[in-house]
Amino acid sequence: MAAAPSETKLWGGRFTGATDPLMDLYNASLPYDKIMYSADIQGTKVYTEGLTKLGLLTPSELEKIHTGLDQIHTEWASGTFVEKPGDEDIHTANERRLGEIIGREIAGKVHTGRSRNDQVATDMRIYVRDRLTDLISKLGNFIQAIVARAESEIDVLMPGYTHLQRAQPIRWAHWLSSYATYFTEDYKRLQQIQERVNQCPLGSGALAGHPYGIDREFLAKGLGFSSVIGNSLTAVSDRDFVVETLFWCTLFMNHISRFSEDLIIYSSGEFDFIKLADAYSTGSSLMPQKKNPDSLELLRGKSGRVFGSLSGFLMSLKSIPSTYNKDMQEDKEPLFDALTTVEHSVLIATGVISTLRINKEKMENALTMDMLATDLADYLVRRGVPFRETHHISGECVRMAEELNLSGIDQLSLEQFKNIDSRFGDDVKEEVFNFELCVERRNAIGGTAKVAVLNQLKNLKSSL
Ligand code: ARG
Repeated sequence: MAAAPSETKLWGGRFTGATDPLMDLYNASLPYDKIMYSADIQGTKVYTEGLTKLGLLTPSELEKIHTGLDQIHTEWASGTFVEKPGDEDIHTANERRLGEIIGREIAGKVHTGRSRNDQVATDMRIYVRDRLTDLISKLGNFIQAIVARAESEIDVLMPGYTHLQRAQPIRWAHWLSSYATYFTEDYKRLQQIQERVNQCPLGSGALAGHPYGIDREFLAKGLGFSSVIGNSLTAVSDRDFVVETLFWCTLFMNHISRFSEDLIIYSSGEFDFIKLADAYSTGSSLMPQKKNPDSLELLRGKSGRVFGSLSGFLMSLKSIPSTYNKDMQEDKEPLFDALTTVEHSVLIATGVISTLRINKEKMENALTMDMLATDLADYLVRRGVPFRETHHISGECVRMAEELNLSGIDQLSLEQFKNIDSRFGDDVKEEVFNFELCVERRNAIGGTAKVAVLNQLKNLKSSL
């Protein structure tokens, strides 16, 4: 028979019956929240300093507590911490162990005025904040890798697409810069989210506030928080920082999925614009000739999993009454899984983009003269013809070239151009049918001309 909770549980005082063993398993978060052991210990260290300032602990008790907590930290870090039945979560496990090390007399004072409700909210915020710092730096490296590639391959041209149909020539670096632009917005957005994560709930008690008037500004400062959450009910029950972080992960993975999809298409035999490094591809168990872009497919596929974490947790959070309810324990697995998935995805995407090889000839050979039909219209605009009219004239040129079965509109003779519209000059062919010129004309901010792309890259770098 299972032991009564009063013998093993920290909250066991008023319970007499044994818990269903499956309930113990169902209730326990230690298997996944022990990852926050360091945040939990930091929180307790600063909290006990706060209690000491109130005279609720003596300096010598504080010293013993800190020494015990340091030992617990070492045990977790070295993998020697022994988990015991009744260790529901990281908070109870650490407190139980502290009692064993320094005696229950002193350890029993640590939780004065604190609840696991403000404790878990504090631990989560410390833990997430610190992981975001690491993620921000990994993301910065990813953006730098894209930018470096764009700088070194600035001269390569390729088709730009709409509806996955060839549309207008662009620089390959412009394509790279477009994703670096998305990821740089992600980078800035993550910094903003981190600011909202970094607020202190500690000192709110179970819900109603601290009964001994603890100095919450002191606690916040000691834990590196930038502010104190201004309402104790909100402090213990607000999980918006989890939702925002999950939303960030979802949006980032959404960008990654589109980036990956483009590269998957470009790596197909039909396009053959890029080749993934062996390090990021796999073969087929049946077809010896195959080299599959598994890294990119996983990046694309994992975006679904991360969105699932966001939607799942939002469903758990919806309609929870104030303030803390155990539903909130469901914040951890989706969040930790999403963070790990995103971190790995950033590293894989960095590896992919820094090691793939491009096929400049294939990219440039995919440019076709019909992609310059707009430039043909623009040629007449420069000679004072209204665009709506020039659009029509250029369309006629396309139609005639098709009717004559020519390989492209550039194959029409000067005479044929002039027959369609007498305002075409002798220079029409060299002015229009040149991909480099076409790209270089798009030199307004954000365009695909070399100067405009280099400027984008410079701005991206300065945002990091
Ligand atoms: N393991 C719990 C969680 O993650 C800690 C808070 C428990 N609080 C409580 N009142 N049972 O949410």
